[in-house]
Amino acid sequence: MTRRIAVTGSASGIGKALVEVLRAQGDTVIGVDREAADIQADLSTEDGRARVVAELGAGPLDGVVACAGVSAPDPISVSVNHFGVVRLLEGLRPVLAAAPNPRAAVVGSIAGTQPVDQAVVDACLRDDEPAALELARAAVANGAGYRLYPSSKSALAQWLRRAAVTEEWAGAGIPLNAVAPGVVLSPMVAPLIADEAMKEVMDRAVPMPLNGYARPVVIATALTWLISTGNTHMTGQVIYVDGGADATLRGPGVF
Ligand code: NAI
Repeated sequence: MTRRIAVTGSASGIGKALVEVLRAQGDTVIGVDREAADIQADLSTEDGRARVVAELGAGPLDGVVACAGVSAPDPISVSVNHFGVVRLLEGLRPVLAAAPNPRAAVVGSIAGTQPVDQAVVDACLRDDEPAALELARAAVANGAGYRLYPSSKSALAQWLRRAAVTEEWAGAGIPLNAVAPGVVLSPMVAPLIADEAMKEVMDRAVPMPLNGYARPVVIATALTWLISTGNTHMTGQVIYVDGGADATLRGPGVF
């Protein structure tokens, strides 16, 4: 039977590559993005998220992959990367639970292992978006906006590990996992790589001894397995598809 899978961030980069892989294997894919998508919505807003949940909530829905994200030293990173993912997944959980083999996955980042703004992360984990955004604005005012992207991805990973094993997710038979990339050659990083000084900073922050930068399809392929019917027992995992960056940076004591 054809599965119906929703993919956010479907208009570009990893999400776009995932749509292609899933369609090629016969799935019906509903793309969600700000524009050039089946459902056009701004996931940084409550309205946008609610509209997507309303449109997809009628079902059936076999899987959701949340790829949409923003890498900016700005509060928008927190509203899209954390709340835009969590609220959407929580909103779609009931329709997923009704599917025969439901699956969910998100895209984290190696940046989630980097130093964070702990107050922002805590507010995200309390599910307090107004407080998180106020703290994020304060971080920008204090010149620490660069911590917001890592904070959003750290909070997302922690939410996922906590939620995945609950009655609502594991108890409903829904595996919930993340792929955390290193550097991926998508439109998000193209301007950074083009700038030699930026590229050097990035290469030091994210060393990738195995095969260097990844193409979007590499991340899409890992996501495809996580949401396949073959994945019956992996949940709550953040899978680093990062050319060895995590093992290099955090070493053998973290596993
Ligand atoms: P991209 O910029 O090519 O694609 C991101 C997509 O998300 C775009 O189509 C954009 O329109 C959509 N999006 C952004 N804000 C949105 C909003 N408010 N509402 C709806 N859609 C929105 O970037 P890429 O690289 O494909 O990123 C996908 C995911 O991968 C993101 O979550 C990103 O944080 C993550 N990631 C990317 C890495 C990279 O090196 N490119 C590394 C690690 C993680």
